[in-house]
Amino acid sequence: MSATELGLPELPAEPYPAEVRERLDADAAEIVDRYPQSRSALLPLLHLVQSEEGFVSRTGIRYCAERLDLTTAEVTAVATFYTMYRRRPAGEYHVGVCTNTLCAVLGGDEIFAELQRHLGIGNNETTEDGSISLEHIECNAACDYAPVVMVNWEFFDNQDPESAKQLVDDLRAGAEVRPTRGARLCGFKDTARILAGFPDERPGAVDESGAGGLPSMAGLRLAHGETLPGTGGPKVVSPRQQQTDDESNGGEGDEA
Ligand code: FES
Repeated sequence: MSATELGLPELPAEPYPAEVRERLDADAAEIVDRYPQSRSALLPLLHLVQSEEGFVSRTGIRYCAERLDLTTAEVTAVATFYTMYRRRPAGEYHVGVCTNTLCAVLGGDEIFAELQRHLGIGNNETTEDGSISLEHIECNAACDYAPVVMVNWEFFDNQDPESAKQLVDDLRAGAEVRPTRGARLCGFKDTARILAGFPDERPGAVDESGAGGLPSMAGLRLAHGETLPGTGGPKVVSPRQQQTDDESNGGEGDEA
């Protein structure tokens, strides 16, 4: 059985063609310059090679190792640890369905099953036209909007099987699709380039990124002693603020 059949890397990988290497070299130099030690540039450099091919190929791993004076084993260890680095080519739109605890119980498992059936692909597979890849993903820290679907790492909140199917249908049809929060979608490779630390050149895209929504900020506002809009309830005081007030009142709060 060959190394490839055993799932082991087959060495050495082919290098990038000269013209690709020349282009990547200019970008890689800019990335490496951001850090005091070149090896610290590995994560954005992996995003850069992902922006070239839509995944981190063996060629990409070789390139990162050569640029940063690392071994391919070291680069592979990092690239296979973080799930944002794809090991197979992603579709133009990479659709991630959160199936972690909260999303799962609120319908994430059902959404993922329905999308697999609707698209005719399984986990980590890509449609034949290359438009959509599908992956079940772990918690994306958006539990307050569960169940959550992500497309190229932008949030689509409060989904259900029907809305998720409409979403992928619209993406495949080339219709304009807006995430619930964040900037307009761009293709997977363009997204990878932004994640490598290069500016999003689309007019207005940065301003569209927005801030945390009300459900995300509710706990912080309560901790600050604010009343949530629409609740009409009394001002909620955080335990820490209560303690401070009690101390400044000479401990009167302890007797209450
Ligand atoms: S469980 Fe889905 S975003 Fe946290």
